[in-house]
Amino acid sequence: MSVDFCQEVDLLIRARYPVLYVVTWEEGRARQLLTQVAQRQEKAVYEWSITDGLRVVCDPKRRATEPSNRCREVMAVLNEVLQSSVPAIYVLKDFHAFIKSPEVVRQLRDLHDSLRSSYKTVVIMGPVVEIPTELEKAVTLVDLPLPSYDELVGLLRSICAGRDSVRKFAVDLNPEQMDALAKAAQGLTMTEAENVFAKTIVRDSRLDATDIQDIIGEKKQIIRKSGLLEYCDTLGGINQVGGMDLLKDWLRKRVRAFGQEARHYGLPSPRGVLLLGVQGCGKSLLAKTIAHEWRYPLLRMDMSRIFQAYIGSSEENMRRALRMAEMLAPVVLWVDEIEKAFAGLEGSSASDAGTTARIIGQFLTWMQEKQTPVFVVATANSVKNLPPELLRKGRLDEIFFVDLPRSRERAEILQIHLNKLKRDPARFDLSALVKSSHGFSGAEIEQGIISAMHDSFFENREVESRDIVTALGQTVPLSRTMSESISALRAWASERARPVSSVQCRAESGAG
Ligand SMILES: Nc1ncnc2c1ncn2[C@@H]1O[C@H](COP(=O)(O)OP(=O)(O)O)[C@@H](O)[C@H]1O
Ligand SMILES: [Mg+2]
Repeated sequence: MSVDFCQEVDLLIRARYPVLYVVTWEEGRARQLLTQVAQRQEKAVYEWSITDGLRVVCDPKRRATEPSNRCREVMAVLNEVLQSSVPAIYVLKDFHAFIKSPEVVRQLRDLHDSLRSSYKTVVIMGPVVEIPTELEKAVTLVDLPLPSYDELVGLLRSICAGRDSVRKFAVDLNPEQMDALAKAAQGLTMTEAENVFAKTIVRDSRLDATDIQDIIGEKKQIIRKSGLLEYCDTLGGINQVGGMDLLKDWLRKRVRAFGQEARHYGLPSPRGVLLLGVQGCGKSLLAKTIAHEWRYPLLRMDMSRIFQAYIGSSEENMRRALRMAEMLAPVVLWVDEIEKAFAGLEGSSASDAGTTARIIGQFLTWMQEKQTPVFVVATANSVKNLPPELLRKGRLDEIFFVDLPRSRERAEILQIHLNKLKRDPARFDLSALVKSSHGFSGAEIEQGIISAMHDSFFENREVESRDIVTALGQTVPLSRTMSESISALRAWASERARPVSSVQCRAESGAG
């Protein structure tokens, strides 16, 4: 991947793109790669930071001179670039902090025009993208990709050979261990990978495949610190969800679809599903259990955080969030109640419709183009605000409609929850419970049992079927208060979505 980066930068510089913007946390690695490009093109490299000013860091032709005044000031360095006649790359570190000032904008635009006919290139380097609108056309963004698998293997080799700085202990890895460690470290920056390897070597006096948990721990930390995604602990497998036989089957068939074997077979990696349906029927629950079932980590993306201006620009937040998800791949990325993000924004002052549309576009494009095994599970309780692009084929693999559970499914749900509440389902009159929970969602059934248990607990006795029947009878299920919107949802889904269960498939209307 670094090879691609070098090639791209090399090409852009030769084509005299005057201002590049390299997005990265890894200044050291980026500078090293830029220096390689500069050497190939026989150009000098200057580096500037607000603290150190401007310095020469590479000068293959011995033409560069250290600037007499260190040009610590932002405008001074830009002037220096303008004046100098040495073919060079000027790396400006953390320049995003200054790029918004009107003088800098003006000067960069002037530079852009004058550098086009010179052999000088400005490279802005920083961890985040901040480009004022006026400069959008003048600046070319280049992403420094994270280290590839091969580069990580290279790092591990150098650790084994004792060429790195951390070695105090003998480290010996066989090819399988090296493969496992490099795979686990994918998604970390080179520095992060070095650090986590160093940490485990110092602590355990060795490095082997048992350290994979530490590497994953490092990734969790990074995600937590960002505040954009939530790392969820998965609680149980898919047998916690009652009903939905067709969806479970669909998922079961895709367990192996993320591996190399499936790629060799010619299958594309699954993209994800949208679970649309009635509230309280287990959509969020199912999303949580998929990850557990597949033994992947579960990341939750809260769209409202992406749009929170104080964390960063929405575009930047989305970029980072998606990158972090990819870093943990294979992973399940859960976007709960996706319609809310699209709804709340229209009238809000934090963002405008244009931004919303751009972020949605960004997310959808990513879904379509992603090569990494990130399985998106989006849930929605209504179709009202869903952008049509989301529903188009090719973005998600399938849209499933989750309806109210039918009798057989309610029986399963009752058993699951009785078990969970430490009761033996065989002691209960299931058919009576199934009957009295007609039109109830899974959540309402669960609440019914809990409420009945409160009553019996208060009376110091064991809970009976009749307690549950009574509790259910006292509840007005949503299906009654919201029957109209549920009918509308069903009508919409009947043409566009797949039912999650075979019983729902057969009994199109009513909650059987
Ligand atoms: N099909 C189901 N099987 C088992 N439990 C369910 C089911 N549907 C709902 N529940 C219970 O109700 C709770 C809330 O459901 P949830 O998944 O949040 O519904 P939704 O996301 O569809 O609104 C779940 O955590 C679970 O305890
Ligand atoms: Mg939900």
